[in-house]
Amino acid sequence: MSDQLIIFDTTLRDGEQSPGASMTRDEKLRIARQLERLKVDVIEAGFAASSNGDFECVKAISDVIKDSTICSLARANDRDISRAAEALKSANRGRLHLFLATSALHMEKKLRMTPDQVFEQAKQATRYARSLMDDIEFSPEDGYRSDPDFLCRVLEAVIAEGATTINVPDTVGYAIPELYGNFIKDLRTRIPNSDKAVWSVHCHNDLGLAVANSLAGVKIGGARQVECTINGLGERAGNCSLEEVVMALKTRADYFNLTTRVDTKQILAASRMVSQTTGFVVQPNKAIVGANAFAHASGIHQDGVLKARETYEVMKAEDVGWTNNKMVLGKLSGRNAFKQRLQELGVSMESEAEVNATFAKFKELADKKSDIFDEDILALVSEENVAADNEHYAFVSLKQTSETGERPHAKVIFTIGGKEVTGESQGNGPVDASLKAIETHATSGAEMVLYSVNAISGSTESQGEVTVRLQTGGRVVNGVGADPDIIVASAKAYISALNKLHSKADRVAAQG
Ligand code: KIV
Ligand code: ZN
Repeated sequence: MSDQLIIFDTTLRDGEQSPGASMTRDEKLRIARQLERLKVDVIEAGFAASSNGDFECVKAISDVIKDSTICSLARANDRDISRAAEALKSANRGRLHLFLATSALHMEKKLRMTPDQVFEQAKQATRYARSLMDDIEFSPEDGYRSDPDFLCRVLEAVIAEGATTINVPDTVGYAIPELYGNFIKDLRTRIPNSDKAVWSVHCHNDLGLAVANSLAGVKIGGARQVECTINGLGERAGNCSLEEVVMALKTRADYFNLTTRVDTKQILAASRMVSQTTGFVVQPNKAIVGANAFAHASGIHQDGVLKARETYEVMKAEDVGWTNNKMVLGKLSGRNAFKQRLQELGVSMESEAEVNATFAKFKELADKKSDIFDEDILALVSEENVAADNEHYAFVSLKQTSETGERPHAKVIFTIGGKEVTGESQGNGPVDASLKAIETHATSGAEMVLYSVNAISGSTESQGEVTVRLQTGGRVVNGVGADPDIIVASAKAYISALNKLHSKADRVAAQG
């Protein structure tokens, strides 16, 4: 068995299924480039047949990413499979990922199919997929809650039809590490042709066990592929977190004896990019990428770390991309220093025009804020991307007045389809007044289900990063905005969410 573990990232597919985490094509491309820099083996770029938008994303990522295998999810039917294969046509290495539910509950209640029908469909779909492509992954959805005898029957048949990877999803996050590890081990032992496929783990985090279950699937079960997402992004409590699983394998190589291709120094940049793009803030105490992951507050710990880092740290912060010598830029910094910092942060720009536009934004920010930190630059870059993507609404300026005992008033100028409009409103507070002022013209009628403010680099001198989550007609979107003035950041976030509401076509969900 190989001692190299395949890292399969599904941030752009399963991660994006998280309500509000939907991303535009350009945002996905940018994250895909970072995943390639991170050296993940497989990027699941989307679910091509679920919408035209997803098809275009898988296609665009297949066009530009050449180092990682590009994968598209597909239901186990000819139409989905053909559509996915079409989207993957330009990939250097493409993979079709078929899924079909095998648990009694899903087959009866969701698919309304008998086990024999599911068995036949799984076989036929794999045969058809294999006629189009060599790299075929099969996932029995809700696999962990499926009857093991039935699962053995289905998996043996799809391997015989040419499936090259067998993924065992714990779709609802019900597994316990030892049980999940043994479940995979038993499948591999019982299925006669199991050695013809790579075994893979795919764990959801409903009980907070996704990483532990994945590692048990590897250690006990002998799986050699882990499916995971940056920051553990995903529906409900999320998926297995890439950074945690990779760093567990690296830090405890003595126990796992496995390697990955991942360039761990790119982890933090990937985490920030995903969090700033989706508006899903990383909790400060999150392992590996949380702001406190390498911070020591107690005097005893600080003293210990200063004497010998190993006293309280099991891995080096630099190994996952944290740097001590943060370079601070300011208004006197030139374009070259800025461009170099972008490169160091792993941000690649497609053209000099894009560098110039971002540099102009940087200068604007440097006029308002003396020290520009890495976090500011990353926020600026993601804002620039959002703005370039969605032009229907664009922020122009804002004026608001608030005084103790008086009801705040705001006037916001913005554009709708290129035409400038001015909205005015009172509100409970200045943020409320500003968003109501925008709504006087936007008239989205959307319900706000989340509003959060985060200081990008810690102090009150920092930029405020605001996330706004809007819900309307069964759709949920997140908007993110950053500015030293949190009222302006809020207006920008609201406008970014409105743009997402305006631009997204509906799609079919993978589960459900
Ligand atoms: O969780 C799950 O079962 C999935 C499959 C579609 C692989 O995401
Ligand atoms: Zn999943």
